[in-house]
Amino acid sequence: MTLDFNLLNRLIEIYPNVLSFNQLLKNDMHSKHDYLEAFRTLENRQFPVAISSNGAYLTTPMVSRSILTQLTNTLSMNFSYIVKEIIPSTNSFALEKFSTLKEGDVILTHHQTKGKGRLGREWSSSIGKSVALSIVLHPKVKPESLPLFTQLTAAALCESLKKYGDAKIKWPNDILINKKKIAGILIESQFQDNQLQGLVIGVGINTNLTSNDFDETLLNKASSLKMETSKTIDPNELIADFLASFDSYYNEWLETQNASSFINLCKKESVLMGREINVFSPKQQPRQAIVKDINTQGELMVLYHGESSVTPLKSLDFSIRSNSGYS
Ligand code: BTN
Repeated sequence: MTLDFNLLNRLIEIYPNVLSFNQLLKNDMHSKHDYLEAFRTLENRQFPVAISSNGAYLTTPMVSRSILTQLTNTLSMNFSYIVKEIIPSTNSFALEKFSTLKEGDVILTHHQTKGKGRLGREWSSSIGKSVALSIVLHPKVKPESLPLFTQLTAAALCESLKKYGDAKIKWPNDILINKKKIAGILIESQFQDNQLQGLVIGVGINTNLTSNDFDETLLNKASSLKMETSKTIDPNELIADFLASFDSYYNEWLETQNASSFINLCKKESVLMGREINVFSPKQQPRQAIVKDINTQGELMVLYHGESSVTPLKSLDFSIRSNSGYS
């Protein structure tokens, strides 16, 4: 590992304290000049590192493997963390290495350079100020159950974000606070010879971004936990809360084959329930409908204008825009 990332890892572990030149020089491996250069490299690469007269410190808490391991060691799932300094996408990494990864492996990165959003969109994350994680699962489920993973993840995410504000779910995969998008979910599946090998549950959360980190055109649609609460967010605490919720819903569902706990939460917190929506599907005119329910398969049940019975929407096939805002 290069000296700058070695120092970054040490800074993360001791946040918010200063890693002093005196401490570093005790090892005598490098000169003060080397350490200063390495801190400057981190600073220039936009990592939240501040250099002081006696050393350097992190201005924002960042994801730590050891803290996460400690915070989640009583959960039923054996979560195991792989934290990469910089990778294009945690989902792509998990899919590429899928055969070598086991159930409960969680990929995280400080800097995701080519994050993927739903419907082929880009997902940008600010260095050290947003959470990008992917959970690897090898569940023994039928492909028909796949939409339920989106509901399960949305329920767990919404629950863990309630600490920071009135989190709501915009079906199927956006979490909003004060009507602005705070987090998104992208689930990708891995098939081999038509057989489902498993899933990658990708979650992006805007934690410590400030308004400068957003494109101006996005500021009325997206926000961060820090902007909504005026507090610095500890990503490790948030991830641990999310994984605890995920663990509990996942295990209950596997044991009972009953998804009602997380489906009920999704219904309760959905901004779309009872709303008039436009349903956009590829190569078709948008159609107006009213949202009636989420069924036990995790599908949104809508009543199209002019029709008398409800129709399920598959979460992966449609994009929905509300007619009347989300409040
Ligand atoms: C969306 O709202 O469109 C979904 C965004 C999902 C982003 C996360 S960040 C971690 C994981 N890796 C990716 O490349 N995408 C997901």
